[in-house]
Amino acid sequence: MCGIIGYLGEREATPVLLESLKRLEYRGYDSAGVAVLEAPKPGSPISTSITKSEAKVDDLIAKIQAIKPTGHLGIGHTRWATHGRPTYINAHPHTDCHGRIFVVHNGIIENFAELREELQKAGHEFTSETDTEVVPHLIEANYKGDFLAAVRAALKRIRGAYALAMFSTEDPELLIGARLNAPLVVGLGEQEFYIASDITAIIPYTKRVLVLGEGEVAAVTPLGAEVSTLDGTTVKPKLVHVDWDVSQAQKGGYPHFMLKEINEASEAVANAMRGRLTDDGSVTFREFALTDEELRRYREVLLLGMGTSRHAALIGEHAIEDWAGLPARAVDAAEFRYRRPTFGPDTLAVIITQSGETADTMVGLHQAKERGALTVAVTNVFASSAARDADGAIYLHAGPEIGVASSKTFLAHLVSLYLLALRLATVHGRISLERRQELVASLRAVPDQVRGILDREQEIKTLAHRYSKYRNFLYTGRGLGYPVALEGALKLKEISYVHAEGVTGGELKHGPIALLDAKFPVIAICTASPTAEKMVSNVHEIVARDAPVLALVTEGDDSLDGVATDRFVMPAAEEAASAILNSVMLQLFAYHVAVELGQDVDQPRNLAKSVTVE
Ligand code: AGP
Ligand code: GLU
Repeated sequence: MCGIIGYLGEREATPVLLESLKRLEYRGYDSAGVAVLEAPKPGSPISTSITKSEAKVDDLIAKIQAIKPTGHLGIGHTRWATHGRPTYINAHPHTDCHGRIFVVHNGIIENFAELREELQKAGHEFTSETDTEVVPHLIEANYKGDFLAAVRAALKRIRGAYALAMFSTEDPELLIGARLNAPLVVGLGEQEFYIASDITAIIPYTKRVLVLGEGEVAAVTPLGAEVSTLDGTTVKPKLVHVDWDVSQAQKGGYPHFMLKEINEASEAVANAMRGRLTDDGSVTFREFALTDEELRRYREVLLLGMGTSRHAALIGEHAIEDWAGLPARAVDAAEFRYRRPTFGPDTLAVIITQSGETADTMVGLHQAKERGALTVAVTNVFASSAARDADGAIYLHAGPEIGVASSKTFLAHLVSLYLLALRLATVHGRISLERRQELVASLRAVPDQVRGILDREQEIKTLAHRYSKYRNFLYTGRGLGYPVALEGALKLKEISYVHAEGVTGGELKHGPIALLDAKFPVIAICTASPTAEKMVSNVHEIVARDAPVLALVTEGDDSLDGVATDRFVMPAAEEAASAILNSVMLQLFAYHVAVELGQDVDQPRNLAKSVTVE
């Protein structure tokens, strides 16, 4: 999820690796490291110099100055911890038992626990808490004199997401890259080659890049790069010429981080599920591993968060109540501390925070702990304050989010809360196996469906263009559509500074409808749900007041044909899945309105990514 660089060429590898890591810093990370295959000294065996830091790249550079490794092959890494704390030991590169194989990895090895157990039984010794460390050991176990063959054999056993750069002292002129569900490119220079998670790392060195496909392996030698599948079939790689500057490259060619991050929604949703969910709806959380019996003791659920995270809390509340039949309350964390506490040791407090540092939410967490509630932080940042202080953690695994307005992490929060709701529903025996299977199938379809929405950006842009002339918006929905409406409105106000409010469809005629006229549009969430028909009636009421309506409707439902001013047709999905899909559409809509109005999308005025004051 963070940064990878590999180098093989005529230059000294160390400065190239360090400069590249500096350029990858913008992504956010917690620790860093490099391994350089040292140039052979006459009479001494080939050796590798590893330097790591549990801090920033500058610290790594300071350390390396004392060591000065020389050599022409090396790999480097900035880590965004997913498995194991951000410590020196857990920093990459990782190696096998004999220090011959060196690996840096971005992503998550889903089946690492079983592989680790198997390798330990076979005598392999592990030193870190990471999932990554299974990779060098698995390659070692498969090594029969051919490093590339061993890598292929090892990767066939691995499930999950990986971008890898690797080398072995046994094959000192071979640098290997591989990817599955995580990005990786191979840069082609003059007599030199690079492997990088992101073009930013290598932009000053080369503009010629091979883009690896899913499950492909690149074997780089001084003679060139060969790409093949895990079965060894040679692949003709896609060669692209990039003309980006560093700032364009950091944004993956997108004009803003926010647009890049919205476009990462599909991966974020898939990563939040990865390795946690079986087809029959059993859910496991590694850092929140209570037994069914332990979890059953908690009879009610409190969900605390602020801003976008509070909207995720509202959706979590709904899912927990609906699927698990447990009383659930989503609370504004800042208000919570001033209210008389009516919960105690049988309460599960779910602390929802992308950054893990929001002061208002942290106070709520501490208060919940003091009163004996069991606390679990649902956060994107490993070892953040919330993750450290709570009794357990559910990590989003969405990768760093740089745009101030949350986008992909909101969606990852929804998935995580749905999994928690499923887990609670199962331990309390409140949900049938069939219903669980239905929900799982529908969640599993979401990453592809999200991609489908992202592919329709032009359609959304056209709508945004049409609606950007209005200065006020009402967003409305029912059920899960209500928090989706609140979040849609928040996105619009945060980045475009246009006034927007979210109300329930039911609440409309109790006041807000008075606002409506031809200059006050309404975004109506009317996708399939138990209350969709009621939303259709609401849209009729709105149209009767001359307000323009943009309705999100499910394919095949023509009840708003010729009624709503505009319809955006969504794929058929469970209400829970629709909440994610509708949110992606509304994020893109807000983004394009803001761009149309010329606003600073990534750093909106008056806002900070992490609000660490109350
Ligand atoms: C989201 O777009 C906002 N920037 C903001 O509402 C944010 O969600 C809120 O400050 C909570 O942040 P957290 O998730 O990091 O705790
Ligand atoms: N899962 C790996 C770890 O926790 C890699 C994290 C990353 O992508 O940086 O070490």
